[in-house]
Amino acid sequence: MDTKKVYIESYGCQMNFSDSEIVASILAKEGYEPVTSVDGADLVLLNTCSIRDKAEQTVLNRIDGLNHLKVKHPAMKVGVLGCMAERMREELIERKHLVDLVVGPDAYRSLPELLEDLGSGQKAVNVLLSRDETYADIERVRLGSNGVSAFITIMRGCDNMCAFCVVPFTRGRERSRDPKTIVEEARKLFQDGIREVTLLGQNVDSYRWNVDSRGNVKDTNEAVVDFADLLGLVADVSPQLRVRFSTSHPKDMTDKVLRTMAARPNICKYIHLPVQSGSSEVLQRMNRGYDRAWYKERIDAIRRHMPDCAISTDIIAGFCGESEDDHRSTLGLMDEVRYDMAYMFKYSERPKTLAARKYPDDVPEVDKGRRLQEIIDLQMQHAGERNQRHVGQVQEVLIEGTSKRSQDHLFGRNTYNAVVIVPRFQGAEELKPGQYIQARIISATSGSLQGDPVGIGMEPARRSPEPVSI
Ligand code: SAH
Ligand code: SF4
Ligand code: F3S
Repeated sequence: MDTKKVYIESYGCQMNFSDSEIVASILAKEGYEPVTSVDGADLVLLNTCSIRDKAEQTVLNRIDGLNHLKVKHPAMKVGVLGCMAERMREELIERKHLVDLVVGPDAYRSLPELLEDLGSGQKAVNVLLSRDETYADIERVRLGSNGVSAFITIMRGCDNMCAFCVVPFTRGRERSRDPKTIVEEARKLFQDGIREVTLLGQNVDSYRWNVDSRGNVKDTNEAVVDFADLLGLVADVSPQLRVRFSTSHPKDMTDKVLRTMAARPNICKYIHLPVQSGSSEVLQRMNRGYDRAWYKERIDAIRRHMPDCAISTDIIAGFCGESEDDHRSTLGLMDEVRYDMAYMFKYSERPKTLAARKYPDDVPEVDKGRRLQEIIDLQMQHAGERNQRHVGQVQEVLIEGTSKRSQDHLFGRNTYNAVVIVPRFQGAEELKPGQYIQARIISATSGSLQGDPVGIGMEPARRSPEPVSI
């Protein structure tokens, strides 16, 4: 078979980066080899994101930018995958003459036939969403792996209808992946040297295997597995394998998950719990399914089970109808929680969403910008303060690679997901990616920690975890 070259560029969330590995795997069987530059590629695929208008504009500009390559290599094909393929199929096909192929997130198995259709000069499109596709059986080709950490998709789609969010439209109905294939993937990754896996889903707390949409058990001979059970099963692969996950949803996060985390040293003490707003009225309009008091209670529950757990969040500034008082409630909530980290955005109206249909996008752009800046400034302050708490502690760090700033330093992460910079050598020994070390934290900024290695390997006291029965 002739080898052809495919270049895949991924935008958006980790789910998309993970999907690109599924695509690479499907294409490998068709003789496509992944390459790291567009130059000389036979097929260029953009795996795209629709979450905010800016994300889409970036990709539309990128498509135009590919024009000169197409002039040079007329045989080169350009495909759009992912969320924009789903949301903007007509525009992409009609207006963007450069686009030959449009494939939605649930249709990647049809890529071989679509590529064949392209051969006959037609444009090829498949944006069908599925109720059961999880690509469970596809062995991922790891793209751009650092050899230390990897993502594992445990579910797809989303059944929540947050008023601002396009994801349910682009990714379809929620479905969970067979836990056996998840554990198998984790085991294989561990054998290949991976030491940290992140379990991915839009709302991991609603992971449920062997239960139908009405809550009834589907197969009585098989176990029902919820997210806490799944976490335990993946943590059982090895005490040397760190387990992370994203994203938790405040309305669904259970104490059972928190107990499982607390009981397992290798489940990282870090939870991403997007709040979106600190105002109960805004949360109601956002259709998030919780209010401020409920959210605060979930934060308290995390701190009851794991007093040291790091917490991060997502915040949207300037959602429809947000008043100055609502905005101050968000700042007030941030003061109460003191997040270790946050992703912060200006509200961007998305076509067809509940908010676009029901509420005017009425916060003036200048106010959105100012509110966002106030949120960012406060978060910087909190992150700096939170990082100071590590100083003086000896922490376990999993080394990931060379520091961006200096060849003489490596970087890794502690269990709290904070980046720790350490010197490359401990005495005569050179530290290596994939190694666990013990490091004394000597200083901190809002972005990272400086560590001094005091020992190599895991903490000796680290015992094998108790198996979770399911
Ligand atoms: N499933 C995750 C979020 C996925 S999208 C959850 O429920 O938390 C990631 C983040 O993008 C969201 O948490 C939200 O803060 C932000 N976001 C989503 N839609 C947005 C929009 N229309 N405008 C601005 N930010 C948005
Ligand atoms: Fe979007 Fe809400 Fe689903 Fe997250 S939970 S993906 S914000 S609809
Ligand atoms: Fe973007 Fe789709 Fe992820 S809209 S954030 S790539 S699910």
